[in-house]
Amino acid sequence: MASRSAAERRQALADLIAPGIEAHSLDVTSDTQVEAALRAIGRIDHLVFTARPEIQSKPFLEIDPEQAKSACDTKFWGQYRVIRHALRFLREDGSIVLTSGIAGDKVFRNSSTMAIINGATEALCKSLAVELAPVRVNAVSPGFVEPKTPSIVEYAKRFPSGRLASEDEIANAYIHLLEATYMMGVTMVVDGGARLI
Ligand SMILES: NC(=O)c1ccc[n+]([C@@H]2O[C@H](COP(=O)([O-])OP(=O)(O)OC[C@H]3O[C@@H](n4cnc5c(N)ncnc54)[C@H](OP(=O)(O)O)[C@@H]3O)[C@@H](O)[C@H]2O)c1
Repeated sequence: MASRSAAERRQALADLIAPGIEAHSLDVTSDTQVEAALRAIGRIDHLVFTARPEIQSKPFLEIDPEQAKSACDTKFWGQYRVIRHALRFLREDGSIVLTSGIAGDKVFRNSSTMAIINGATEALCKSLAVELAPVRVNAVSPGFVEPKTPSIVEYAKRFPSGRLASEDEIANAYIHLLEATYMMGVTMVVDGGARLI
């Protein structure tokens, strides 16, 4: 696992996930840090990208464009950057799973930055599935995942599923895409039907 604070939280991650987990610190907005961490990790079977940018819901005209660019730099360009550096370490029958999100598909007011990031991520997923084959490239698009504020918990009662997703329900989609050797360029939507209402 890797994130800005993963190395310093290694013990907590080991307790939560698996005792032998390796944790590396890297900021996905830095080519130097990404390259150094990947060199330390070495050979990669599968690459899963889940970094989330700091972003507030705001009307388009109230957004500071520099904050929007920074969010793009973490999530969209972060994925782009990590893939470029990771390819030389990734095995030929390995795979990449990106993360999109419901705002790339369904229009929510005040969510234009996540809309462009997630839309671009899904487009990148399809292009790279063609260009990087036989490496498989897919994406997961979560809906609304626990925990959330009371108002979103209330909103989720209107979904066909009637509730938020658990973390495990989203994690299962990543595991499925890692194992599904004939799935390429797919964005797997896991939203309990939220995009349909
Ligand atoms: N949760 C939802 O309801 C939901 C819905 C739709 C889509 N998504 C998408 O799912 C993905 C994961 O979301 P989440 O809710 O799991 O987010 P999260 O719990 O906030 O985790 C995001 C992780 O990203 C890491 N990170 C942030 N900036 C980074 C950077 N510059 N470099 C390296 N790591 C960085 C953070 O670790 P450090 O602070 O240690 O760096 C953190 O562990 C995101 O792409 C999000 O847009 C989530």
